[in-house]
Amino acid sequence: SEVTYLNYDVLTDFGWETDDEDLLRKAAAEDLDEVDYGQFEVQPGQSLLEAAEDHDHAWPFACRGGACANCAVMLLDGELSMPASHVLPSELMERGIRLSCNGMPVTAELTVLYNIKHMPELEDLLL
Ligand code: FES
Repeated sequence: SEVTYLNYDVLTDFGWETDDEDLLRKAAAEDLDEVDYGQFEVQPGQSLLEAAEDHDHAWPFACRGGACANCAVMLLDGELSMPASHVLPSELMERGIRLSCNGMPVTAELTVLYNIKHMPELEDLLL
């Protein structure tokens, strides 16, 4: 799968909202650093976090086991499957929030906001 990623910090910096339909077009127009915006491939059997690390990205994580939500991402497009046992409540799952440490892409293309652990909705969950 090919993943397009955008750092949540960029939204904070530019004052953009997560539900902005033009988010990715705006990001593409800003000449952002590769740390904050770009694409990489996820190999079959790899979690999104493992694939990010393979491409030298230092995305947030702590437990690597679905228990802390530090690695959370928000799906803007595509789907990431996750094991049944994890820390995310159903309200957050319904908003497209997933875990990168144990989530595996199930669509050929995936667009995610990473580093969303500072979203107010998630701060309460972080251990
Ligand atoms: Fe803890 Fe993913 S790193 S849930």
